[in-house]
Amino acid sequence: MKGVVFTEFFELVETTFGEDVLDDIIDKADLDSEGAYTAVGKYDHDDMVKLVEALSAEINVPVPELIETYGKYLFGRFVVIYPGFFDGVSSTFSFLSRIDNHIHVEVKKLYPDAELPVFDAIINGPKMTMTYDSKRPFGYLAKGLINGCIEHFGETIEIIRADISTDMTSATFELEAR
Ligand code: HEM
Repeated sequence: MKGVVFTEFFELVETTFGEDVLDDIIDKADLDSEGAYTAVGKYDHDDMVKLVEALSAEINVPVPELIETYGKYLFGRFVVIYPGFFDGVSSTFSFLSRIDNHIHVEVKKLYPDAELPVFDAIINGPKMTMTYDSKRPFGYLAKGLINGCIEHFGETIEIIRADISTDMTSATFELEAR
């Protein structure tokens, strides 16, 4: 998993809960890389899972909820870090349908070692169905990123169904514009 996913998570934890909580969860997570991450490095995605589990234990919030919250925040950060991906795209549905065949393709060119999920998107009038499939358990991250995307474009769109598998490696999201 790319370091940017870690460094942005550290930033969110530090600004929300403080440096002590961040140091604490890095200690308790028993990480492979001992908490030394750079945005362009590549790290075991299990380290991300361990960090979220440690934070969950520390602040008593379930892991899925934390990952989803982080996804929403991360989308806002992508807007700042990768503004080029937003050029000429003005709606949630068109942005989301570009993830698999454009945005993540460009991400892979920027970082050839990136490990990305597979998305399938079907738009049907005011509705959109997105399926997520990955070797990694980040279905709730996808849900949070989708919510961040809706917020970014300021549209009234709801995720009316989010079926995320128990192991969190696959999901189906149904969105509806109101
Ligand atoms: C500007 C928009 C976006 C950028 C630049 C971007 C970039 C990235 C990057 C750099 C990673 C890490 C790859 C790795 O760990 O090796 C990633 C992973 C991921 N992205 Fe995106 N992404 C964007 C939007 C989205 C959106 C809107 C969704 C949800 C629909 C999404 C879903 C995911 C998920 C779930 C992962 C975790 C890896 C996995 O599940 O296998 N991304 N993305």
